[in-house]
Amino acid sequence: MPRVHIDKVVENLYVLRVDDDETKYFEALWYIPEGITYNSYVLTTRNGAVVFDSWKSRYADLFIESLKSVVDLRDIKHVVIHHTEPDHSGSIPKLLELTDKKPVLIGHPLAKALFTSFYNVEAEFRTVRDQEELLLGGKKLRFIHVPWLHWPDTMATYIEEEGVLLTCDAFGGYGVMPVLYDEETIVQQYLPYVRKYVVTVIGHYREHIVKNIEKIAGLKLSIKVIAPAHGLIWRNNPQTIINYYYKLGLASPIERKILVIYDSMYGFVERAINVVLSELKSRGFDVKTYAFTDNRQASIGDILSDAVDSVGIVIGASTYDGKLFPTMSTILRILIEKLNAEKPLLIINVSGWGKPIDESLKTLYESSKFKVVDLVGIKGLIQDNDIDRLKRSIDSLIKTLQ
Ligand code: FEO
Repeated sequence: MPRVHIDKVVENLYVLRVDDDETKYFEALWYIPEGITYNSYVLTTRNGAVVFDSWKSRYADLFIESLKSVVDLRDIKHVVIHHTEPDHSGSIPKLLELTDKKPVLIGHPLAKALFTSFYNVEAEFRTVRDQEELLLGGKKLRFIHVPWLHWPDTMATYIEEEGVLLTCDAFGGYGVMPVLYDEETIVQQYLPYVRKYVVTVIGHYREHIVKNIEKIAGLKLSIKVIAPAHGLIWRNNPQTIINYYYKLGLASPIERKILVIYDSMYGFVERAINVVLSELKSRGFDVKTYAFTDNRQASIGDILSDAVDSVGIVIGASTYDGKLFPTMSTILRILIEKLNAEKPLLIINVSGWGKPIDESLKTLYESSKFKVVDLVGIKGLIQDNDIDRLKRSIDSLIKTLQ
């Protein structure tokens, strides 16, 4: 039975959170042993209640049961769909079924089309423009479009009287933390889960993180609480998560952090990488390493997470079937799809009978923001001249950082 948390965030606003530790691969892609939560919110007013988002459909019954503990279903006047992805909209059809479709759905015009196509449910749907307001029982709700955080349908709601900004995916993170709020003792442990979530889920739209944060800042809202639909609620220091997201949006690097990713079938690549690691460490770099070997397989989500704030990336790849090692080929493509940042890349290729990899990689990377500073080709076991060559390539990499 998944754990459910129900709490009053501020007067008249409840959070309903379910801890999903059953989803092993979020979006059927990203390995998340840290789990994820879905947070729905309920605002009670003098003139009925508003529900904001819901939970994944596998928890629909539990969602309804939790909802009933804070509100009579008959009192629900509106259901706001901030974003139609089924991790948030999945339990809304159940709620509509149990309320004879009485609550009016509210969302972005695109959310209306998506909701109908996903669930084949016809219900009254009020589409809202950017900055449109709704007055309900003494509460003013302001809907703010935040496109591409994470889909084009996404919006946030500002509850003016309470200074609460409900943000759905934005400002969320992976992780099932033992607390609901941004307590000082838990934030540092949580932020790496936020970083992994941002790059894996929203990374492709990174520039929109920056644009939307600047847009929200320009609205001069008096934000006291940021309440996302995943992870911790920020009511002690909401600016912490805004600043953190902004840095991730810019892919701001941490000084001297270098990411090294490699595959090694029989240890030849690993020997070359060991030279690189020892050289980088002796020059004072903080190196984060991920490997694919016959007894280790790194998580691509974790690799992306450490890529976003690295100053540079080193790839060690074998030639396989005459081409780039398949896992490394996938990683290189995902790095472009999800991160595409102006970071230097050093590529070391070790080949046996196959040709060294060069042209296909260059073509791949020339169309991205990454800059290949050097491509080192090694045949089989590294020799002294290869070691010298590797050291020179590290010089080239470091030069780009100055
Ligand atoms: Fe948490 Fe894009 O859904």
